[in-house]
Amino acid sequence: MNLKLHVWRQAGPEDKGGFVTYQAEDISDHASFLEMLDVVNEGLIARGEEPIAFDHDCREGICGSCGFMINGQPHGPLQTTVCQLHMRTFEDGAELWLEPWRATAFPVVRDLVVDRAAFDRIIGAGGYISANTGSAPEANNIPVPKENADLAMDAAECIGCGACVAACPNASAMLFTGAKVSHLGLLPQGQAERDDRVLEMVLQHDEEGFGHCTMHGACQTACPKGIRVDWIARLNRDYRQAKTRRPGEAGLVGA
Ligand code: SF4
Ligand code: FES
Repeated sequence: MNLKLHVWRQAGPEDKGGFVTYQAEDISDHASFLEMLDVVNEGLIARGEEPIAFDHDCREGICGSCGFMINGQPHGPLQTTVCQLHMRTFEDGAELWLEPWRATAFPVVRDLVVDRAAFDRIIGAGGYISANTGSAPEANNIPVPKENADLAMDAAECIGCGACVAACPNASAMLFTGAKVSHLGLLPQGQAERDDRVLEMVLQHDEEGFGHCTMHGACQTACPKGIRVDWIARLNRDYRQAKTRRPGEAGLVGA
């Protein structure tokens, strides 16, 4: 199959950037989207031109690194990651516009690559436990209600890709933060820091420049891992309870 690609090219964070048009020719419809870009890049390198930069290709939809916009949709038309999006999804002769996530908290590094370190800082603010859980058999001796274990696993599916931020008109990262706060908050081992966790992670979220949630739901629609806005509701409930128990402590929302 053949495609016309309009790709955002930006040499670095200070560069203005702009779209450049390329032809992608003789692409297998079994290729992944990133394999298609590999073919285009081989042609660019052969002509002595700079290849199109994208972050990574784990090919498994588990690392969260590969995301960018395809025709205005995060990760493209399917609810999956770009590395797991196959070219058979598109019509032969399709015209596609590729650009990086657009959010103040995700500055462009180069071409389709953005800096998602803001997510790492949110995790660093509270996404951990201090309980010594011992070895695996000891950890398994701590009973966890099945419903909570299942919910915690659902929340832990978030791969930190940033599609929720890119989809949100407020560039909010509340879906990501809600999933990360909740997957530890649902487990007995996560209770010691439960209040600190939600207060500090929401504070860091706001300090990074992400917007607030106004319940558009675009994040849920874009998420390749099925994280639902229910996690934002749970985050808000945890936050309100923590603020009630610790009035005047960290956190900007409702402070
Ligand atoms: S909540 Fe979904 S869209 Fe947002 S970072 Fe996690 S996996 Fe990606
Ligand atoms: S490259 Fe790892 S999720 Fe796509």
